[in-house]
Amino acid sequence: MAKAACITGVTGQDGSFLAELLLAKGYTVYGLVRRLSSPNVANIRHLMDQVQLLDGDMTDQSSILTALKESRPDEIYNLAAQSFVQTSFRQPVLTADVDGLGLVRLLEAAKEVVHDARIYQASTSELFGLVKESPQNENTPFHPRSPYGVAKLFAYWACVNYREAYGMHVSNGILFNHESERRGLEFLTRKVTHGVAMIAKGKAKHIELGNLDAKRDWGYAPEYVDAMWRMLQQPKPDDYVIATGESHTVREFVKLAFREVGIKDWEKHVRTDAKHLRPAEVYTLCGDASKARRVLGWEAKTKLPELVKIMVEADLERVGG
Ligand code: NAP
Ligand code: GDD
Repeated sequence: MAKAACITGVTGQDGSFLAELLLAKGYTVYGLVRRLSSPNVANIRHLMDQVQLLDGDMTDQSSILTALKESRPDEIYNLAAQSFVQTSFRQPVLTADVDGLGLVRLLEAAKEVVHDARIYQASTSELFGLVKESPQNENTPFHPRSPYGVAKLFAYWACVNYREAYGMHVSNGILFNHESERRGLEFLTRKVTHGVAMIAKGKAKHIELGNLDAKRDWGYAPEYVDAMWRMLQQPKPDDYVIATGESHTVREFVKLAFREVGIKDWEKHVRTDAKHLRPAEVYTLCGDASKARRVLGWEAKTKLPELVKIMVEADLERVGG
């Protein structure tokens, strides 16, 4: 019989790629979707007749319970989150509710309905925050720097606790930044590639950014959802860092994006404004994914120049003539 999987956050960047991957593997795929006044289904429009959508919200215990009763999944991927770090400073309580308590609501529902289901939690390199060593691995101490990071830290430990206390198969994927043509426009990479496409097509003159010196380990999202799946195929639950192992500045990303459209004097098109700075910044991130390579057989393939190319080309196409 086909395995069933339930994805929270199925309308997001990762949720949509993961749904594609699981459908290709023959899974029956369920997706938890919250009610919005205008449905946000752009990322899964092409999958609407294949994914079974379930009403639910991570802030609502009974809807999560009902969704698990209806889907009875073998695997649960918890990707739902208020995932924008900047917003978490303005909406700390909502972020804690969705990203922190939401995971506990899901674990409680799973404990009751599908105790043996394998569960993936979308943990993050934001847990390392003010980094204590570089590169960061599964043993690096945490020091989150935002309400988002703090909520995700609570969720991380809740997963470890449900594993130890109830013997549940819960794994944390500590994923470093991963991007794609489906990334939200508020995130740095998409803001830049979309902005560059607009400038190249004569529809805009500038991009306005914050800290150009921040460093991130940026990978390609479709490869990262494969790592999620691999974690749940392991006989024992565990925690894994998923990253490329390369770290680049925001400035380098911007320069590469402008290079894709033949603009060399990129500084002329970039303004900075303090409103894009964060009250506490994560200055640098670089992941050591050697455990994932060894145990899961997973390795990042797409490096930064190729990632930038994919994203700029998709935005040029979207922005049009
Ligand atoms: P995303 O594009 O922002 O997607 C977030 C998803 O969560 C959307 O489907 C959103 O639904 C859903 N959601 C938000 N609030 C909800 C609520 N109250 N109830 C139910 N669903 C809700 O994020 P992503 O980039 O795909 O990331 C997926 C997960 O990985 C997130 O948990 C993120 O924090 C984590 N993560 C991401 C990265 C990265 O670099 N992308 C790295 C590490 C960890 P709507 O469409 O209705 O808004
Ligand atoms: N968004 C944004 N907008 N970021 C900017 C800007 C700007 O105008 N200018 C500079 N930056 C810098 C930010 O200060 C940060 O250092 C870096 O660019 C990346 O910012 P984001 O793309 O917003 O991502 P993030 O690293 O804060 O968080 C993402 O990655 C995490 C994993 O490390 C999100 O996807 C999180 O959900 C995820 O957990």
